[in-house]
Amino acid sequence: MEDKPARRRLVLVPASAQGHISPMMQLAKALHLKGFSITIAQTKFNYFNPSDDFTDFQFITIPESLPESDFENLRPVLFLLKLNKECQESFKDCLGQLLLQQSNEISGVIYDEYMYFAGAVAKEFNLPNVIFSTTNATAFVCRSVFEELDANNVLAPLKDSKGKQDELVPGLHPLRIKDLPTSKIASLDKILELYKNTVDKGTASSVIINTSSCLESSSLSWLQQEGLDIPVYPIGPLHMVASTSTSLFEENKSCIEWLNKQKQDSVIFVSLGSLALIDINEAIETALGLDNSNQHFLWVIRPGSIRGSEWIEHLPEEFSKMVSGRGYVVKWAPQKEVLAHPAVGGFWSHCGWNSTLESIGEGVPMICRPFSADQNVNARYLECVWRIGIQVEGELDRGVVERAVKRLMVEEEGDEMRKRAVSLKEKLRASVRSGGSSHNSLEEFVHFMSTL
Ligand code: UDX
Repeated sequence: MEDKPARRRLVLVPASAQGHISPMMQLAKALHLKGFSITIAQTKFNYFNPSDDFTDFQFITIPESLPESDFENLRPVLFLLKLNKECQESFKDCLGQLLLQQSNEISGVIYDEYMYFAGAVAKEFNLPNVIFSTTNATAFVCRSVFEELDANNVLAPLKDSKGKQDELVPGLHPLRIKDLPTSKIASLDKILELYKNTVDKGTASSVIINTSSCLESSSLSWLQQEGLDIPVYPIGPLHMVASTSTSLFEENKSCIEWLNKQKQDSVIFVSLGSLALIDINEAIETALGLDNSNQHFLWVIRPGSIRGSEWIEHLPEEFSKMVSGRGYVVKWAPQKEVLAHPAVGGFWSHCGWNSTLESIGEGVPMICRPFSADQNVNARYLECVWRIGIQVEGELDRGVVERAVKRLMVEEEGDEMRKRAVSLKEKLRASVRSGGSSHNSLEEFVHFMSTL
């Protein structure tokens, strides 16, 4: 009897953050369902311990000798630049070993856009290598033209705290200069260096983006027709394509019982993702604003996310009273379940791309308070393109919080946004169903990888 041909294997390299690990593991699941064997190659930072969902997968660790303190203390841009340099040689050894063991099986390497060392190594071995953008297509466009914007002096206002950052970026309507994916805690030079590496078109054979053409058709057209000369596959939202458990932290499910006792669309969910930090004063003003709005709220406060505090011990005494009245606070929530709950009528968010997709995917409108990078782009699109978000800018005080929450949760304006969000949710669902654009794009990608 003839041996069954081995399943073709893909090596996936996630970046070390919750917002990057989740979509990579969803992609891994989706490709496994399409018949590929999967190897996940990760570093020790934020190591993803596989749940029962991934028993069939191979997990390997890319050795490197960076201290944990670099991960904790270095700003993300500097850490990524350092990690990429550090991992290039050791990943070469890892991939070399894998090829020795199973050379006929390995079809290619898919790497997070910020783990570009993996693309360079795959190219050295002559393996197809695919960029996976866990952020959206518009942020990818911004990164692609960042060097050109700098050369044309468009970024000059970002170098000067008094610069006119409200002006529109030529060719990127409706983004303003301040909406570009930058960070207040990294120098523009370092950001330019990182972006140049993430969109190195000379290396990759194709790009997968966790988005849907119903959200970003013009950015996708630009990438497909002008920006990149390699195939681009918009296959998201991946949490709708392959739902799986990917949390790095323990989820407190008691909040679902609390939500079960609340009326429909009556609760505002407050969550700032896995990385954002706020000052104690911002936490206090948020608490007071939520209290003054008279709305019920479910608030995720991650341990360590309020600067100088372990958790909420430095918040004033009134905070406990507010929370026992109208609020519920947890350290980490089952966010997708929360957003799907009928009691949740709005989402106060930092607008990370996963949170944005999860919220739109449940038809929940948002209050947008971006912190850095692609979150600025997402917030602008939520407010001005999809018109399902209210952006809160500048210094945060209780009045600003109260006003934004009432606009979204009580006023007609919020109802209109909720209706638009529900209509967008239906479009997203259609795009991942058989015959939908993301569904077709995934099929095309699988075909592309199988024929290489
Ligand atoms: C980061 C960047 O901030 C983001 O802009 C980028 O697009 C991806 O990487 P993060 O800040 O963590 O990610 O935000 P986000 O992309 O929203 O991802 C957070 C994930 O954590 C979401 O999938 C969310 O469901 C999950 N989460 C968050 C929980 O499961 N429980 C929580 O309590 C909070």
